[in-house]
Amino acid sequence: MAAVSALTAAAVAVVGLAAPAHAADPVLRDLAAAKGVYYGTAVTSSKLSGTYGALAGAQFDSITPANEMKWGTVEPNRGSFDWAGADRVVNFAEANGQRVRGHTLVWHSQMPNWLANGSFSNTELRTIMTDHVTTEVTRYRGRIDHWDVVNEPLNEDGTMRGSKFYNQLGESYIADAFRAARAADPAAKLYINDYNTDGTGPKSNGMYSLVQRLKAQGVPIDGVGFQGHLILGQVPSTLQANLQRFADLGVEVAVTELDIRMTLPATDAKLTQQKAEYKAVTNACLAVARCEGVTVWGFTDSDSWIPDVFPGEGAATPYDAGFQPKPAYYGIAEALGWTGDGGPGDPGDPGDPGDPGDPTPTTGCAVAYAVQSQWNTGFTAGVTVRNTGTSPVNGWTLRWTWPSGQSVTQAWNATVSQSGAQATAVNAAHNAAIAPGGSVTFGFNGAWSGGNTAPGAFTLNGAACTAAVS
Ligand code: XIL
Repeated sequence: MAAVSALTAAAVAVVGLAAPAHAADPVLRDLAAAKGVYYGTAVTSSKLSGTYGALAGAQFDSITPANEMKWGTVEPNRGSFDWAGADRVVNFAEANGQRVRGHTLVWHSQMPNWLANGSFSNTELRTIMTDHVTTEVTRYRGRIDHWDVVNEPLNEDGTMRGSKFYNQLGESYIADAFRAARAADPAAKLYINDYNTDGTGPKSNGMYSLVQRLKAQGVPIDGVGFQGHLILGQVPSTLQANLQRFADLGVEVAVTELDIRMTLPATDAKLTQQKAEYKAVTNACLAVARCEGVTVWGFTDSDSWIPDVFPGEGAATPYDAGFQPKPAYYGIAEALGWTGDGGPGDPGDPGDPGDPGDPTPTTGCAVAYAVQSQWNTGFTAGVTVRNTGTSPVNGWTLRWTWPSGQSVTQAWNATVSQSGAQATAVNAAHNAAIAPGGSVTFGFNGAWSGGNTAPGAFTLNGAACTAAVS
């Protein structure tokens, strides 16, 4: 383990060089480990260098190849294998002290053409499938922590999806795939994985019954993966309860492909909401004892499948396309117990005023000046000063310059003095404080001759205000 820590520290140092503005950012994998879970990311093997590689290695303690272990990638032609991408991911993980989620062995999608379009007898297809499972799991025996043995077996209504495997072999294809995987690597945890099963509902109920049936048959299934491809504002409120009911069946659970997509463009409000939602999903896993960890489906918006598949949507991951941490990243960190402040990129959560990541307070003021009455050489004016910032004002000095030789003769609710053409109003004891969004009013009598043009500019405690003269 000492070697692992040293490697982690080295990787963090590299990140520090690449992104000095965030040198103090928390390390998700360390926070997760302290909570007894892992935090993972899907990766693209060809990108595992530079800043991408440094962040993937430093921040996460589990990685999932996004495509490199899929059947179509590893066996593009029958009997001819290409393990280059998969090997790169496994080697990277070992160099960085990370676990690997193997993804995925049996799936209706991203199959090689020879398999998708070939015709095989049922017996032949069953053997092709179990041989594939055996070959791939054996190759990485002892090096893969979790395998997604069967991916996306269900329809939206919870019935079995009519994949090539199901149509020809019936539901027993699932049991056979799991048995072949267990025989090839008894130490790997074997998962079934699907999307839109995150909250309770028909599809989740279908998965629940399927897992019950598999357990009743003695099928070696260890876990259920909930992909977590979520939509901003639609994170299921039943997520935690749903994870818990599966855990109660006697399996592990994990969020395996988390992303939270939004309609583009991303705005500060959407990113702040996304922070709260990443935090909520992470909290849901932490609240379920058998939830092993969370994996994000790409850690940077430049490596997310969302814009390709859902036109007009994106910004779904915790880092922006330039590798800067987004509010979502700080949301994950806060769920994992971090109490630091990520600065302006780390907004507070609505309803959570004590959030350590509240945005840097702003200051600002607006002044309304009005002549209320005027006679041959004198006038009475009222001044309202509004605090348009987000931090309170405690004690104030308002200054302005008279444009046409006026002077203040007597004031109320403030002490006003004058030097040359410059007037200075200082708060009275009772109106020293101006809360954010609040205002104070004072007034005075003045003298004029020749002209009584209103002052055009005011400063509050030295900073210019917006003047709204009325
Ligand atoms: C996606 C990859 O991220 C894309 O690069 C690829 O083009 C399509 O597949 N559910 C899964 C993942 O189980 O394997 C999918 O990954 C996303 C949906």
